[in-house]
Amino acid sequence: MHIIMVKKRLANGEACPKCIQAEEMLRERGLWDQIDEVVWAHEDDPESPGMRLAALHDVKLAPFFILDAEGEPRVLTSALRFAKELSAPKARASEPLLDWSAAASELNQLTPPEIVRWALQRFGTELGIAFSGAEDVALIHMAAKSGFGFRVFCLDTGRLHPETYRFLEKVRLHYGVEVEMHFPDAVAVENLVKNKGLFSFYEDGHQECCGVRKVAPLRRALSQYAAWMTGQRRDQSPTRTNVDVVELDQTFSGKGQALYKFNPLAAWSQAQVWSYIREEEVPYNELHDRGFISIGCEPCTRATRPGEHERAGRWWWEESTQRECGLHVKH
Ligand code: ADX
Ligand code: SF4
Repeated sequence: MHIIMVKKRLANGEACPKCIQAEEMLRERGLWDQIDEVVWAHEDDPESPGMRLAALHDVKLAPFFILDAEGEPRVLTSALRFAKELSAPKARASEPLLDWSAAASELNQLTPPEIVRWALQRFGTELGIAFSGAEDVALIHMAAKSGFGFRVFCLDTGRLHPETYRFLEKVRLHYGVEVEMHFPDAVAVENLVKNKGLFSFYEDGHQECCGVRKVAPLRRALSQYAAWMTGQRRDQSPTRTNVDVVELDQTFSGKGQALYKFNPLAAWSQAQVWSYIREEEVPYNELHDRGFISIGCEPCTRATRPGEHERAGRWWWEESTQRECGLHVKH
């Protein structure tokens, strides 16, 4: 296959910003070397090679890509779609891990970036990275560096901080990745609020609201995946001390289908995650600079005081052993 990228040169002689952004994204994902030829379309010269290609393929956007396999050229105008195609694993990704406990002992010897790579190599875009917090962007960063295709999803409970929404957008743009948003069922939320108001979790616990706003949407989201990946760590909470690097998820698996759950950061400490974020210049939620450590929904998260445990600011009015919302319950 011969691959051409057509870039636009503006009248002032500079490359168009979208072309620069696309090149950076392809380099970050290790895909740049797969482009055989770069052809320039000069904005003010309809006879330049790139402008002629644009006219030939009736394309009005830049950049665009021509993938020519045996004389049958195909044009892609989305750099993201192009990146996805290049990095899609060749073999079917969802081949079952025949012996997942053997896989677990292999994975326990690997570093988090190696675990992410291992998982993506086998599951590719049949694996979804569950994204809401700092750890998850570290995983997205590792995935982007692996060069494999990957997908990211987020459960938008409707109660996240404005800063978190800005952070989600920052990550989407930084990695040029679609963040698939999953919303709660509107009727279920309407009924909950009609019956109990907007803050019932302070009175009778967070399980009901989390059930509607997080757990049910997660079940829906996971029905399209063979595997998912989370940023859980063992030292995060008394409820997570036995998190494994890879688990067979019995709670959310669809009928008759295995669902694998990867927790590549299981053995990392909070400090290790943050030195990775700083060293690699991974984007993070601005709330972390204002005393927040673990961040969930706005009404159920507060900043932590010096010396407090990192999850002390989550559902702080409940017992620390009850502070799971149902996403990570094991059956
Ligand atoms: S929670 O269960 O208490 O809310 P926590 O905030 O510690 O979880 O996050 C643990 C992992 O669960 C994250 O690293 C992420 O993979 C996943 N997760 C938590 N909240 C969400 C969300 N709103 N959307 C997607 N994934 C989430
Ligand atoms: Fe509802 Fe709070 Fe759970 Fe968010 S964290 S879904 S607001 S109970």
